[in-house]
Amino acid sequence: MAGGAGFIGSNFVRLLRHTRPEVEITVLDKLTYAGNLANLAEFDGAPGYRFVHGDICDATLVDSLAAKVDAIVNFAAETHVDRSLMEPLAFIDTDMKGTAVLCESARKHSHKVFLLVSTDEVYGEVKEGRSREEDALKPRSPYSASKAGGEHIARAYAESFGLPLLVTRGSNTFGQYQYPEKLVPVLITNAIDDLPLPLYNDGSAVRDYVHVEDHCRAIDLVLYEAPLSEPVYNIGTGVETDGNHVAAAVLEIMRKPKSLIEYVADRPGHDYRYALDVGRITGLGWEPRIALAEGLERTVRWYVDHQDWWRPLKSGEYWEYYKRNYRPLVT
Ligand code: NAD
Ligand code: DAU
Repeated sequence: MAGGAGFIGSNFVRLLRHTRPEVEITVLDKLTYAGNLANLAEFDGAPGYRFVHGDICDATLVDSLAAKVDAIVNFAAETHVDRSLMEPLAFIDTDMKGTAVLCESARKHSHKVFLLVSTDEVYGEVKEGRSREEDALKPRSPYSASKAGGEHIARAYAESFGLPLLVTRGSNTFGQYQYPEKLVPVLITNAIDDLPLPLYNDGSAVRDYVHVEDHCRAIDLVLYEAPLSEPVYNIGTGVETDGNHVAAAVLEIMRKPKSLIEYVADRPGHDYRYALDVGRITGLGWEPRIALAEGLERTVRWYVDHQDWWRPLKSGEYWEYYKRNYRPLVT
């Protein structure tokens, strides 16, 4: 598994350890600013679990690991849209080249099953209707373009070399262990400290917020049950929510005033709506179990109870990034 020290990857390791303890897991992770060994600390020394520090762009290392596994699940990526507007090349390296290196090793070693964890952002902004798996990819940010590029490369390996490929396109995921740069953990950790809650423009951009445990259960289902003849799966709740709603809900749970909300300059090229048709994944037998209100309650409680986890992350490089991104908010 690549990228297992990040937010969704570490939650996926936890799910697998509990539900499929017989599965042996090797996590390969570069430990970028978003990777964190603390997310996996509970598995240190556990039988059937191994952590390898390294880059998915390192073909020699990837090849040596791929020779010993049955399946590759790729969570590894640069994942934050705002950072992709500052440093696009890092996204192209990991999300495209890194994916290609993994595909090449999967091909060399007798076609290992390759599951690429992708995103609903590859469809681009959806002004009306819902994106279906066969829709054209029209990404608009360096992040989503790199993810779409990775998908195209993987698809080419499936078509040209018979790579057994599965792709999941998940929607906005939230929950425990999310690095505090994405909307939900920014809102919660800022609210804990009575700092402004920044919403881009007028807070009206619509997303489909899925809890990380639901997202991970869906990836598990695709990995173990999906037919290779139907390899691509949207993962989301089908519920549309805007930023104003998320911020108001967080503040209500935390009993903090709405005056903490601050409307800030918009993200360039901001996609104002994503919406997924989730008929294919629900047809496989999955449905979300954690509604947004309950998920936010649980997530607020987790960040309140785990300040030792996130406070060290909100220092140094984090504030450099924060200052660049939210210039008017920080002096
Ligand atoms: P994250 O940023 O929390 O974690 C990414 C992980 O990848 C980190 O541990 C990092 O160290 C590792 N990594 C980065 N570059 C690497 C490289 N070159 N080699 C090895 N490891 C590297 O990301 P996340 O939110 O957990 O997302 C995981 C995957 O899910 C990504 O592919 C992302 O595109 C996709 N996704 C995320 C969401 C979301 O809302 N968070 C939604 C849909 C899809
Ligand atoms: O849709 C899936 C994608 O969701 C994943 O592929 C990405 O890895 C993940 O980062 C996420 O992308 P978004 O750009 O949608 O997530 P983010 O949390 O950054 O923003 C969610 C919405 O909230 C978006 O409309 C921008 C807005 N926003 C975000 C931040 C960080 C704000 O209004 N204020 C903020 O401070």
